[in-house]
Amino acid sequence: MAISASAAAEPHVADAVLAWYDRHARRLPWRVGPKERGAARRPDPYHVWLSEVMLQQTTVAAVKPYFEDFISRWPTVQHLAAVKSDDVMRAWAGLGYYSRARNLKAAADAVATNGGHFPDTAEMLQRLPGVGSYTAAAIAAIAFGRAEPVVDGNIGRVISRLFAIAEPIAVAKPAIRVRQTALTPAERPGDYAQAMMDLGATVCTPKRPACDVCPLAAMCLAAGGEPERYPIKAPKAVRPTRRGNAYVAIRQDGAVLLRYRPLKGLLGGMAEIPGSDWAETAPSADAGAPLTLAWLKVPGRVKHVFTHFRLELNVFSAAVEAAEPAPDKCWWSPPSELAGEALPSVMRNAIEAVLPGATERVRPPQARDG
Ligand code: ADE
Repeated sequence: MAISASAAAEPHVADAVLAWYDRHARRLPWRVGPKERGAARRPDPYHVWLSEVMLQQTTVAAVKPYFEDFISRWPTVQHLAAVKSDDVMRAWAGLGYYSRARNLKAAADAVATNGGHFPDTAEMLQRLPGVGSYTAAAIAAIAFGRAEPVVDGNIGRVISRLFAIAEPIAVAKPAIRVRQTALTPAERPGDYAQAMMDLGATVCTPKRPACDVCPLAAMCLAAGGEPERYPIKAPKAVRPTRRGNAYVAIRQDGAVLLRYRPLKGLLGGMAEIPGSDWAETAPSADAGAPLTLAWLKVPGRVKHVFTHFRLELNVFSAAVEAAEPAPDKCWWSPPSELAGEALPSVMRNAIEAVLPGATERVRPPQARDG
């Protein structure tokens, strides 16, 4: 059977991957690479934690400038704990999901209270806000040398190919974890985890993997066959369409009316344009209007695809007197602040449908090599 066929290769996997990492590790701002170990430098747990939380959100390339910006503003976890949440939220703008930034601040506060010492086991790390099982394993392995099995998207792909696991990733997860537990070496588990990540990102890529330069090709059950078949694709989810109304009220000075979404649930705690609920039955023309105004419908609809449903928003706009107070739980966001608000892209698009360019983001400076 396919899985046992390569079991004999298991002890060699870590050796081969680590030897490859010693020559090909990516240089990343939070990483102490194998070539930088001269002075027995160890990765800073603060750097590892911060990068892993940011990487939950987006790609390595997108995280680099944010990571460098955070580290230059707040060089230690105590610095991060000492600032106001709003400053952290602002620096996070553009990274998405503000609940992660709130958890980041809460975890920094907890660690600072503990003298700035991060917990050093996966189990204890998981007690920090925003640190789930993957992030806890990654920090424990990379920052503290614990032999924890780390499985992210890249590693899942490498392992499903290595063992030709013939199930979609969602179903295969427990089997992949068992494999990674067996493969993770007692020596250099953090380098091993990062080596597997780099291998997945640069060699064992989703499309056109470079098996000819892969250190695992000789042991891989998918190489030489159809590696791109793995992980097996799950059948496409059928997404229902939900519909709603969104109302862009524009004050004389250009300020736009916003409110916060509930903390729990989709886009929890992010800002939005006031509007109706989103449901499969279309809302009535004035459902959810925050003020009684002469609302004009913008032609067409703003569409967005979420994991579990498609959304189609009817966008309405209206001009408002300068003295109009914001309704309960809403605020007027002036043009100078709109770009920095925690607006999800569907809401940015709805505002842009009325006010082109109004939400263009101010990005942190790009890293030199980013
Ligand atoms: N993705 C998540 N964590 C990472 C890390 N430490 N290095 C590279 N890619 C990653």
